[in-house]
Amino acid sequence: MKITIFGSGYVGLVTGACFAEVGNDVLCVDIDEEKISRLKQGEIPIYEPGLEDMAVDNAREGRLRFTSDPAEGVAFGLFQFIAVGTPPDEDGSADLRHVLSVAKTIGSNMEDYRIIVDKSTVPVGTADLVSEQVKSAMEERGVSIDYDVVSNPEFLKEGDAISDFMKPERIIVGVDNPRTKELLRNLYAPFNRSHERFIAMDVRSAELTKYAANAMLATKISFMNEIANIAERVGADVEAVRHGIGSDSRIGFSFIYPGVGYGGSCFPKDVQALEKTAVKYGYDARILQAVEAVNHDQKVSLVDKMKGHFGNELKGKTIALWGLAFKPNTDDMREAPSRRVIEELWAAGASVRAYDPVAMDEARRIYGERADLKLVETSEDALKGADALAVVTEWRVFRSPDFEVIKQELSSPVIFDGRNIYNPDLMEQLGITYYSIGRIP
Ligand code: UGA
Repeated sequence: MKITIFGSGYVGLVTGACFAEVGNDVLCVDIDEEKISRLKQGEIPIYEPGLEDMAVDNAREGRLRFTSDPAEGVAFGLFQFIAVGTPPDEDGSADLRHVLSVAKTIGSNMEDYRIIVDKSTVPVGTADLVSEQVKSAMEERGVSIDYDVVSNPEFLKEGDAISDFMKPERIIVGVDNPRTKELLRNLYAPFNRSHERFIAMDVRSAELTKYAANAMLATKISFMNEIANIAERVGADVEAVRHGIGSDSRIGFSFIYPGVGYGGSCFPKDVQALEKTAVKYGYDARILQAVEAVNHDQKVSLVDKMKGHFGNELKGKTIALWGLAFKPNTDDMREAPSRRVIEELWAAGASVRAYDPVAMDEARRIYGERADLKLVETSEDALKGADALAVVTEWRVFRSPDFEVIKQELSSPVIFDGRNIYNPDLMEQLGITYYSIGRIP
């Protein structure tokens, strides 16, 4: 099959590489010429395990190509995937400018039947807007060519994107035309093995499914963070509670890990956008508002603990910070809890020595060099002359550090663990003052 993918960001590249991997001919389009010329040389602009090898192999075989010419993209694929960004606009709704501009490009250039597939996370009703845009662009040219607009949300997790795409738990397709549904089923057949994962529904339900899934997961996290906050106050251990409730198969163990709040490019944005959609349709989404509010406060909870420990005096203190990415196995710092922690520490007059196994360049890009932020090359270097260690992202390499080195380097041994990765009993044995999330101090 011939597939065009508009948008060579995270979703577009993973989708393109995986479709090429199973034998399709894929053309990735992006208006950023520099990005396209780097991609043509095999340089993948994002960190995602396995993606670079897969993209380079398929590019070498000629199945994955890149262009900055949108008209070439429209001419190429029967399937026209839209995988461009939908950043939040000022009020938190999804900004559809890029999506609609691709729709216009398709309408302005198409000569034959096209299946336009929305892969970007877009609010309910966007497929209709895309369709109107394509139609009006064709009207301007005085032509009328058949097309369908399909909603096909993606459920990739950063860090696991390739395996999520290759072995999806479900393939959601919102499609009104039965013939198009079958074409999509065939397109996804290589990823739909062992048991039926292809779930077809109407377009609006598919659009809502994407938001509902992310909002549900974000709700689980905020719920658990709230339980952790209660556990701390009543003298209970949230890790025991997690074990206790997770073993109920109706609740399950996933996404009930308390921590410093959720971040990333999806949960914060999607919860907010769904809330805005609800408002637009006259509904006050109180659960979503609470999920967001709890998450907002959770990101500063670690700094509150530091304030408590240092008698409200963080001025002049230096905090070693381990973990900048919003979660392990990515360099993504969008909405990362680390940013809130760093900024709150600055506001309180403290400075930070930070280390992350992958996100150092990203941190440099965001903050640059400044006196109150040293971006260092090793986790041990971050400890030098610091007054405390804060663990913000649970990278594997932070799980079993040399605690003697931590004790030697810190001015007094104290750890603020935002991900509950250390054992409180061990910390006590080692003589380390230990704060974590929702566990008995
Ligand atoms: C999320 C969803 O998990 C994907 O299914 C979805 O496709 C994607 O958004 C998207 O909409 O594109 P992602 O943002 O990559 O994927 O990250 P997650 O692994 O879901 O983690 C999100 C945040 O929740 C991280 O900050 C993580 O630390 C936090 N988290 C996760 C917790 O605090 N506790 C948990 O138990 C789980």
